[in-house]
Amino acid sequence: MSVVSFGSLALVSGAVAEPVEETLTIDGEEMITVAPAPTEPPGHPFDEVKSGWLYREAETRQVESDSFENPGMLNVQRGEEIWNTVEGEAGKSCASCHDDAAETMKGVGANYPKWNEKEQKPFNVELQINACRTERMEAEPYKFDVQDQKDLTAYIKHQSLGEPVKIDLAEGEMMDWWEKGKDRYYLRTGQLNLACASCHEANSGQYIRADHLSQGQTNGFPTYRLKQGNLVSIQNRFRGCIRDTRAEYPAAFSDELMALEVYTAWRGSGLSVETPAVRQ
Ligand code: HEC
Ligand code: HEC
Repeated sequence: MSVVSFGSLALVSGAVAEPVEETLTIDGEEMITVAPAPTEPPGHPFDEVKSGWLYREAETRQVESDSFENPGMLNVQRGEEIWNTVEGEAGKSCASCHDDAAETMKGVGANYPKWNEKEQKPFNVELQINACRTERMEAEPYKFDVQDQKDLTAYIKHQSLGEPVKIDLAEGEMMDWWEKGKDRYYLRTGQLNLACASCHEANSGQYIRADHLSQGQTNGFPTYRLKQGNLVSIQNRFRGCIRDTRAEYPAAFSDELMALEVYTAWRGSGLSVETPAVRQ
C-alpha cells in the first residue's frame, strides 16, 4: 500500500463498499467471519466484528478457502517439520514434550496473547515459542520474523482453525495492557497524523486505492500475503501500518506492540482463527 500521494485521510477516496456477505468454508468447516462484538469491557466501536476475508477480492477469498491452493499451507507444513526437529543442548524437539500438536495445541492459539505469570506480561505465540526454546530446549530464541518463527507460529495457530478468538483479560494485569493498547489504537502518529482507528474504524469500508479497508482484525495471522509471497506476522503488519502513517515504528515485541496485540485480539473476539489467512 502506498499513501505517499495523500496528505490527509479526507483524501483517501470516495468509494465505499460493504464487505461481501459470504460464507467462508475451509476444508468443509464453516468459519465465523461475522460475530457480535464483545460487550466486556464495554466500549467496542462496532456492533459486529468482521473478518478481513470479507473485504478481499473474490480471487483472494477463493485462495484462502481451499487448503490446496493456499500457499501458506506450505509454511504450515514446514512448521510441522520444525515441531518434530530436535534442536538445542537438551536434545529435544517441541514434540518431545507436546507430542501431537493436533491434540495438544488445539484451541491454544485462539487464546493468545495470554498472561505470562513468570515474565509478568502478556505473551504472544512467538514469545511462548522462544520461552520453550530457551528454557526447555536450551536453544537460541528466534530473532524477530525469521522464517522458522513464522512457520512454527502458523503451524501452532493453524491447530485452532475455526476456533473463536477469546482472550482472558481477567488474568494478571491483562486489563492494564488492554487499556494501554486501546490508548495506542486511538493515538494519532506520524506526518499523516493517523491513528489505527482513523483507518480501521472511522474509514473501514472505504478504499485506499485498490485496498478495501477492513476492521484490521488479527484472527488470520500469520497471514500469507500474495504480494510478498510469504507469511507476515502480526507485529510486522502493525509496523507496516504505522510506517504508512510516516511514523517511526516501535521495536518488535516492545510493550507498545504487545499492548496493541492484546487490544486488537479483543476487538476481534468471536471470529474464527483463520491462520494462515490469505491477503493481497
Ligand atoms: C522440555 C519440555 C518442552 C519442550 C521441549 C517444549 N515445551 Fe512448550 N511447554 C512446556 C511446558 C512445561 C509448558 C507449560 C509451562 C510454560 O508455559 O512454560 C509449555 C507451554 C507451551 C505453550 C503454551 C501452551 C498454552 O496452553 O498456552 C506453547 C504454545 C508451547 N509450549 C510451544 C512449544 C514449542 C513450539 C516448542 C518447540 C519449539 C516447545 N513448546 C518445546 C514444555 C516444553
Ligand atoms: C493509513 C491507513 C491505515 C492505518 C492508519 C492503519 N492501517 Fe492497518 N491496514 C491498512 C490497510 C490498507 C490494510 C490492508 C487492507 C485491510 O485489511 O484493511 C491494513 C491491514 C491491517 C491488518 C490486517 C487485517 C487482515 O485482515 O489481514 C491489521 C491487523 C491492521 N491493519 C492493524 C492496524 C493497526 C493495529 C494500526 C495502528 C497501529 C493500523 N492498522 C493502522 C491501513 C491502515
